[in-house]
Amino acid sequence: MIRVEGVGHRFGSLRVLHDVWFHVPEGEVFGFIGPNGAGKTTTLRMMATLLEPDEGRVLLDGVDVVDDPAAVRRLLGFMPDSFGVYERVTVIEYLDFFAAAYDIERSARPRTVQAVMELTDLGPLRDRLVAAMSKGMKQRLAIARTLLHDPKVLILDEPANGLDPRARIEMRDLILQLRDLGKTVLLSSHILTELSDMVSSVAILEKGRVLAAGKVDEIRKNLRPERTLRMTLLRPPVDLNAPFAEMPSVHEVSLSPDGALRLSFEGGDEVVAELVARCVPYGVVRVEPERDDLERIFLEVTKGELQ
Ligand SMILES: Nc1ncnc2c1ncn2[C@@H]1O[C@H](COP(=O)(O)OP(=O)(O)O)[C@@H](O)[C@H]1O
Ligand SMILES: [Mg+2]
Repeated sequence: MIRVEGVGHRFGSLRVLHDVWFHVPEGEVFGFIGPNGAGKTTTLRMMATLLEPDEGRVLLDGVDVVDDPAAVRRLLGFMPDSFGVYERVTVIEYLDFFAAAYDIERSARPRTVQAVMELTDLGPLRDRLVAAMSKGMKQRLAIARTLLHDPKVLILDEPANGLDPRARIEMRDLILQLRDLGKTVLLSSHILTELSDMVSSVAILEKGRVLAAGKVDEIRKNLRPERTLRMTLLRPPVDLNAPFAEMPSVHEVSLSPDGALRLSFEGGDEVVAELVARCVPYGVVRVEPERDDLERIFLEVTKGELQ
């Protein structure tokens, strides 16, 4: 749905993007991750037709953003990283104003505004002054505004920035709801853990270069083919390695602080089945994959890149 192909950009003599590549498949929630100054906003502004790339190209649903910016704008809703002005209006006035700006017919506007307020849970706040809203509510209003023309693609620049944990969870639920409606969502963040429970794919940007891009699981597998499993046993063996004798795919067995076995191994699900089979005599209570979070992937990908 979004293709960024070999994009380079300069501001004066400062080269801020170098050969940036990544693809966002339709229907994904995609994380664009990197520290402040990495070039995320610059890249997103190109997708939103606010800036033209010096090199390479950006396509949305097959349309080049430079060739047909009007078509791209119909396809996409863009939420910039800072909230606009208009504080002395109510939620409904604000949305009605932007619905008019999107050329939604007067007769259709109340219905459109109502639908968007329902989706973003802003209904009860319809008469609230924007100035009197919390950061989390304003962020939801900003997303509501991008939804008025029912775009297929949403590009949200740092949507979770500055939100308290509760507002962040509400934001995540809204984003997952939008995904379930079939939208493609691209979110940026400089805080990795902010996105770890929302995204299935990422591009990691560092000093204007993409260090890794793709499905989180695949990036993890490429970084480290080793997998880790936690197994809780009723009666753990005294010799932790005993059950796994002559299994060369098992690299390490240790005991977690909570008493579960921690097994690192290489291989697919056949190996998992074999590990479980061998532990049956010790009473298998629970088997769970140990999830490496986005943070660890990021640290590994950027190893040696960060100064
Ligand atoms: N309009 C601009 N003029 C000059 N330099 C800019 C401009 N916008 C961004 N930059 C520079 O480009 C780099 C990338 O910025 P940005 O895309 O905002 O990064 P991020 O969103 O990842 O924090 C930074 O070094 C920033 O100072
Ligand atoms: Mg930014």
